[in-house]
Amino acid sequence: GCVSFLRSASVRNHGSVGPAVQRESTSSSSQSEINREIKSFAELQNERQEQAERSVLLTCPQKVSEKSLLKYLSKYGDINNYFFYESFDVCAVVEFSQKNSIAMLQDGTVMPAGKHESCIPFKSRVFTLKINNPDDQANTRQSLPCLKQSAISINELVERISAETTLDEQICTLTKTYELTEENVRLRFLVCSLLQDIAIQYFPNCSVKPFGSSVNGFGKLGCDLDMFLDLDGIKEQNSNKTSEPFSVEYHLKRVPSERAATQNVLTLIGECLDRFVPGCVGVQKILNARCPLVRFSHQPSGFQCDLTANNRIAMKSTEMLYLYGSIDVRVRALVFTVRTWARAHGITSSIPGAWITNFSLTMMVIFFLQKRRHAIIPTLDQLKALADAKDKHIIDGNDCTFVRDINKISVSENTETLGQLLQEFFEFYGNFAFQKMSINIRKGKEQTKPEVSPLHIQNPFEQTLNVSKNVNQTQLERFVSLAREGAWILQQEGMTKASVLGYRPWGLAALLLPSTSDTGNKAKKRRRREGASERIKSLLESLKNSKSDGKNDATSE
Ligand code: GTP
Ligand code: MG
Repeated sequence: GCVSFLRSASVRNHGSVGPAVQRESTSSSSQSEINREIKSFAELQNERQEQAERSVLLTCPQKVSEKSLLKYLSKYGDINNYFFYESFDVCAVVEFSQKNSIAMLQDGTVMPAGKHESCIPFKSRVFTLKINNPDDQANTRQSLPCLKQSAISINELVERISAETTLDEQICTLTKTYELTEENVRLRFLVCSLLQDIAIQYFPNCSVKPFGSSVNGFGKLGCDLDMFLDLDGIKEQNSNKTSEPFSVEYHLKRVPSERAATQNVLTLIGECLDRFVPGCVGVQKILNARCPLVRFSHQPSGFQCDLTANNRIAMKSTEMLYLYGSIDVRVRALVFTVRTWARAHGITSSIPGAWITNFSLTMMVIFFLQKRRHAIIPTLDQLKALADAKDKHIIDGNDCTFVRDINKISVSENTETLGQLLQEFFEFYGNFAFQKMSINIRKGKEQTKPEVSPLHIQNPFEQTLNVSKNVNQTQLERFVSLAREGAWILQQEGMTKASVLGYRPWGLAALLLPSTSDTGNKAKKRRRREGASERIKSLLESLKNSKSDGKNDATSE
């Protein structure tokens, strides 16, 4: 069944960003037994980071045998793990068991020969493998077994899930199809680690950590890579040696504000990526945004990257989402489904603007699950009440404390199926009093709106802010009418496939097809026109404000 699939899927992902073992409310095993293997967010991050530091990225020639490649690399030490994938070239990620293997490999690496006056040399952990004796490889017919790092198209997904027999199975298949793979997660941490190698030259003990959907459990294959440059490690070496007659301090560069400091740091890294780092292209420094960032694409991995600094609240909300996703298997499945549905209907978009963001949608799903008659997940205030002294965490005066040990959170009694929950989700938001009420996951109860934005979702940690400040009335209305339509479609479709004959898109597949109101010609044209002019308008806005990060929750603009 669905739960057992999700369970085995997460066991497969042992040690990955996802929880090692998902909890299951209907299981007869004791709670401590179920939870035993669940690692904390921090533990997983550290494990992954350390693994990435022992890994290299290799561009491989077209015709090379896997066996001879491994034999060659094994000269430098034991290999724990490796895989191949295709981006511009065929690439390999190779994890050695010891870090010193990398130094040895680098010692044996040469700068490309030939006339390269126009090139700037750069040493890193990204290498190109060359074949010196093509004859040795001549009888290699097989190409390297590449693993896909991108998601299948929505049409392929519709086809795939149409073959399932229950709505629950469809939802599980969607989740399994779209979730990040073990290898993709490794690649994400490796890219962070490569960036850290560069930043560390200027800021010793700094680290670059992924946040957002790469690690919160809700990432879809192909999603962007959000990174956070953490300089706190530099300060952490302070120790209070009071018995000494003197203490010596480093000089600090004084800048007008914390924001200016962040901008300076990102300017430097941005310049460096742009001018010296091979494979980093399209570098944009978006320093005037609410949360300054450097955006670029990393060619060897194929990731679109956003690098921020001093963004500790985002890291904390990533951890919060990770925790919510680990509490009950239904959370992730429902978030994946709602995000896919929203993307299919253009409720969300890859272009920043007045659209609902994935982050806001996730908050809406969490709120909905808190509001069930038997809550599926606790409110943020309840998670805070469960916290102990070690969990206490205050960032810039904002209390971001919540329990981090999942074992302290009791399993929900709610037994609703995913299909039922999806249907109820649409009904809930199809009828929600958006005009008056604000969505509040801290209280798990709607609150009277403190301001007039069409959609108000309270920022869980900076409580005076609205996460969906950017959303306009038109976009909210589209969401509501599509939610109503979704509820209606699922009512017609039922929870199981009506007929075993034929492959008519049914259930969730029907939900992902273009909406019936979209197929009406007039409405479609008007919507397209509105959509286009809105897109242009917001594009201009974002250019004007250099504010293309989609993080729009300022109290006022
Ligand atoms: P994707 O769409 O899959 O990239 O989801 P994501 O969760 O990674 O979203 P995004 O890349 O836009 O943002 C990365 C992280 O920044 C999120 O997970 C949040 O922690 C944070 N974030 C994004 N948007 C907002 C926002 O509007 N307000 C706040 N407070 N944080 C945000
Ligand atoms: Mg993201």
